[in-house]
Amino acid sequence: MGKLARGVALIGAGMSKFGAFPDKTSRELFVEAFIDARNSVDNGIDNKDIEAMFLGNFSSDLFEGQVHTGPIMADWVGLVPKPVTRTEGACASSGIAIRCGVMAIASGLHDVVCVAGVEKMTNLPTSRVTDTLGAASDVEYEFPVGATFPGLYATIATAHMKKYGTTIRQLRTIGIKNHDNGKLNPKAQFPLSIRDLMEKRIKKLKEKGEEAPSWRDEFDFLEDPRANPVVAWPLRLYDCSPITDGAAVLFLAAEEVARKYTDTPIHIIGSGQGSVQLALHDRADITTILAAREAAKMAYRMAGVGPEDIQVAEVHDCFTIAEIVATEDLGFFKPGEGGKAAEEGVTARDGEKPINTSGGLKSKGHPVGASGAGQAVEIWKQLRGEAGKRQVPDVEIGLTHNVGGTGGTCAVHIYRR
Ligand code: COA
Repeated sequence: MGKLARGVALIGAGMSKFGAFPDKTSRELFVEAFIDARNSVDNGIDNKDIEAMFLGNFSSDLFEGQVHTGPIMADWVGLVPKPVTRTEGACASSGIAIRCGVMAIASGLHDVVCVAGVEKMTNLPTSRVTDTLGAASDVEYEFPVGATFPGLYATIATAHMKKYGTTIRQLRTIGIKNHDNGKLNPKAQFPLSIRDLMEKRIKKLKEKGEEAPSWRDEFDFLEDPRANPVVAWPLRLYDCSPITDGAAVLFLAAEEVARKYTDTPIHIIGSGQGSVQLALHDRADITTILAAREAAKMAYRMAGVGPEDIQVAEVHDCFTIAEIVATEDLGFFKPGEGGKAAEEGVTARDGEKPINTSGGLKSKGHPVGASGAGQAVEIWKQLRGEAGKRQVPDVEIGLTHNVGGTGGTCAVHIYRR
C-alpha cells in the first residue's frame, strides 16, 4: 500500500514558451513543447518507444470549442494509434496526468509514456476567461453569486490575514520574488522583475511627457492603484497569475529501461493526490487546503522523506496568497508562518527553501492544463543542474505541488536525482 510496484523515472522534459500567442494554435504549442522535450532526452527517443500518452487539459471545450483534444495532440506529434487519455482536474489537470503516467508504468502496463499538458486561453477576452475558469468553482453555490477565482482567493487571503496576521507586504513579497526568478527564465510570459516593470512604466510616462510618480521602491509601486489596480482586495494585478497559452511535455520510463535514454534520470519517488469539498463555504478551514495536505502526506510517505528534505519546490502560486498557503500545507513552515518566511527571504532563490525558481505561475505564466507538467520541467532542470542563471546549487530532491481551482484537487510529486 502506498508504494510503487516498480520505479519510475523522468527521462526528458520540455515546454513551449508561455505567453499570449494569437497566431499559434494549441496544436502548434504542443508540438513546440514535444520537440523541446524530445531534444532533452540525452540519448534520443523514438516515437515507436512511447507506448501511451496522458494529456492534462482543463477546457479546450470552452476556450477553443474543441472537445476530444487527446487524439488531435497525439496526431500532431505522430503518436497515433497509441492510446491517449485526457485528464481534467481544473488547474491540476497535468499534475493528475503525471500521476496517471506513474501508475501506468509502476503497474507494468507500459515501459515508456508521454505525459503532457496544454491550454490555449487567450482566444477569449478576460471576462470570458474569468467565466470559463469559474466553471471550476461550484457552479450552483459560488459562481452564481459572482465568485470569480480572484475573488475566491481574495477570500482565502482575508481569512489568512485575520487568523494569522499575514500582511499585504508579505503577499507583495511573493510577487516580487517570483518576478525576480522569472526574469531568468527565457520561457516565462513576464520575464521582468517588478523593478523592471516599474522602470518601464516611468519611461513610458516620460515619453508621453507626463510626470512620473516618484515611487520609493517596488512595494511603493505595488501600492499605487494606477500601477497595480485592485482585482479583488487584497489581491492586485501583480498578485495574480496571468492568462496564458502554453504546453509542457514529459517522458516517463520504468527504472530498468531509463538508462537506455539517459545517464541522469530523475526518479519520481513520491506521488500523492487529494480532494476536498469544492465550495469554500463547505470547508471547516479555508486558510489551508486539505487536498494538498493529503497529497503531500501520501507523497512524503511513498518517498520516505519529509518536508525538511525538499531542497527546491515548484508550488501552485496562482495568486500570491496561494504560495503562502502551499508552503504551509507542504509542511515547510508552520500554519501562519509562510508569509513571514517569504518576507525573511527563506523562499528566495538563495534562501534555505527556494520556491518557484522558474518564476512560478505568477511570472512564468499559468496555461492552466499545462501548469503541473510545466512545474516538473523546472524540477527536471534544477535536479540535473541545467537551470542556467536560476540554478540552485547542489540540489538532489525536489517537489511539485499542483492545485485545481481553490483546492478541490491537488497533486504532489517528489523527485530525486
Ligand atoms: N501579471 C502581470 N502583468 C499582467 C498580468 C498579470 N497577471 N495580467 C496582465 N498583465 C499586464 C499586461 O501585459 C498588460 O501590460 P501592458 O499594459 O504593459 O501591455 C497589463 O497588465 C493589462 O493587461 P490586461 O490583459 O488588460 O489585463 P486584464 O485586466 O485583462 O487581466 C487579470 C488581468 C489579473 C484580471 C488576469 O490576468 C486574470 O484574470 N488573472 C487570473 C487568472 C486566473 O484566475 N487563473 C486561474 C487561477 S485558479
